[in-house]
Amino acid sequence: METQILVTGGTGYIGSHTVVELIQAGYDPIILDNFSNSKRSVLEQIKKLTGKEPKLIEGDIRNEKVLDRVFQENKIEAVINFAGRKAVGESQVNPLLYFSINVEGSIVLLRKMKEYGIKRFVFSSSATVYGDPGYDCFTESTPLSPINNYGESKWMVEEVLRRLVQAEPDWKVAILRYFNPVGAHESGLIGEDPSGIPANLMPFVSQVAVGKREKLRIFGNDYPTRDGTGARDYIHVVDLALGHIAALEALNKNDGLITVNLGTGNNTTVLELVHAFEKASDKQIPYEIVERRPGDVAAYYTDPTLAKTLLNWEAQRDINKMCEDTWRWQQMNPQGYPED
Ligand SMILES: NC(=O)c1ccc[n+]([C@@H]2O[C@H](COP(=O)([O-])OP(=O)(O)OC[C@H]3O[C@@H](n4cnc5c(N)ncnc54)[C@H](O)[C@@H]3O)[C@@H](O)[C@H]2O)c1
Repeated sequence: METQILVTGGTGYIGSHTVVELIQAGYDPIILDNFSNSKRSVLEQIKKLTGKEPKLIEGDIRNEKVLDRVFQENKIEAVINFAGRKAVGESQVNPLLYFSINVEGSIVLLRKMKEYGIKRFVFSSSATVYGDPGYDCFTESTPLSPINNYGESKWMVEEVLRRLVQAEPDWKVAILRYFNPVGAHESGLIGEDPSGIPANLMPFVSQVAVGKREKLRIFGNDYPTRDGTGARDYIHVVDLALGHIAALEALNKNDGLITVNLGTGNNTTVLELVHAFEKASDKQIPYEIVERRPGDVAAYYTDPTLAKTLLNWEAQRDINKMCEDTWRWQQMNPQGYPED
């Protein structure tokens, strides 16, 4: 029988790509999602891609009754927890929402897992836990110092996990700190579908290319980087999804807690990304330079060594591929997923 993996937030951006890779690797993913930031039609797309529609339970990760049902009705062996909110700006305006969903949600889930004797957990953390340490290349031992509520919420869950594994060493936990996920499945069937104005660069650029938005605003061109614009370690979402499969496999071999950065080890400036996207789409991306945005860091990227050693994983897809796949998704789905 295929191994059942509970994927919370499995209809979201990273979750849906991971569900596809799980199915293709022979796992049986079961999705728990409340559709607060995703659409039901993702499921049909996953079926088109893999030939299999994963089982879905609709509900909130904080709802104990829903979790009882999930764990009673299935033989779950591990949980990947993508469910959460991810917008830095919103986390500053609504901290209670962020701490409730991201922190309380993870704790309720862990408590229920323990009750049902399930002790394998993969957690979506973020490079935002590092804050602004004063240098660009982040290893897993870079001190943690988040500078916004979103980053704090990820740090808090990490802290809970560190203490849990210390007290109960039979847990197997992977904390994965993502750098900047972008791109889409190369089929063009699934991708990132932000509601409203995209908060992230790549979806904004692709909406400009497709004519949905007039121009890009670039926040600052006087940073100490190659061309003055901010630089990030963009990682193709399919590479990131494969990182989760590698983490599940690593948990079979390692007891306790592993903490790994998932990025490429390269960085790309805003202008470099714009030019790569122009090449991929054969469109011009009009832009204007505006003031720096408070809280933005000039540049960062990961040292990918530990991911290679611990997970036997490294990113394979470069920035051109990230742009090509984003563009294919955007062209095939100019309005994103159909409304439910
Ligand atoms: N995308 C990024 O840039 C990025 C970077 C670092 C870390 N992360 C983390 O990775 C995870 C997935 O991110 P994503 O980009 O796929 O986001 P997403 O918003 O596309 O996916 C999150 C999914 O969780 C669901 N969800 C939200 N709250 C829920 C709740 N209380 N109960 C059940 N389901 C709920 C949403 O409906 C959505 O389908 C998040 O935890 C995010 O913080 C994302």
